[in-house]
Amino acid sequence: MTEKKRTYEAVLQAIDSLLAEPCDWTAAMATVACELHTAFDTFHWTGFYRTIAPEHLQVGPYQGSHGCIDIPFTRGVCGAAAATKMTQLVDDVSLFPGHIACSSSTVSEIVVPVLTRDQVVIAVLDVDSNVPAAFDATDQVYLEIICTKLGLMYGEEAKRAIRN
Ligand code: SME
Repeated sequence: MTEKKRTYEAVLQAIDSLLAEPCDWTAAMATVACELHTAFDTFHWTGFYRTIAPEHLQVGPYQGSHGCIDIPFTRGVCGAAAATKMTQLVDDVSLFPGHIACSSSTVSEIVVPVLTRDQVVIAVLDVDSNVPAAFDATDQVYLEIICTKLGLMYGEEAKRAIRN
């Protein structure tokens, strides 16, 4: 097993045991952002954008320097993940049309949608790095496992918070 996989396995265990205590959706996002951010030196912004209204994301719990507040589904890597319901793995953000540069040092990123059982996008998990091509299929597999769990555990609560 690679070092990266070992680290993700430890993160998964920590998240599972922390979220075994009853807590709400905000506490869960804050916990996941913290566990991921502190586990990997290459993660320089780690956090969530939540769906607050149709086709509209707003920043949620995160670690790192400030993130922009509002992102419509039509903009940036986060918007693309939300609109397509598919993970976006970007090796070089300068080549991604419409990338939103919250920090000029971000050069690569991965954004994973968080979906309810019935495929509603309740949030995206955004991880940005100042290392080129920092993310690969291992990151995608593990981050998707985490987002699937979050969607199943908190989907209904998060869906109720979306304004119509
Ligand atoms: N990377 C995002 C914007 C959010 S911030 O970088 C924290 C994007 O282009 O969607």
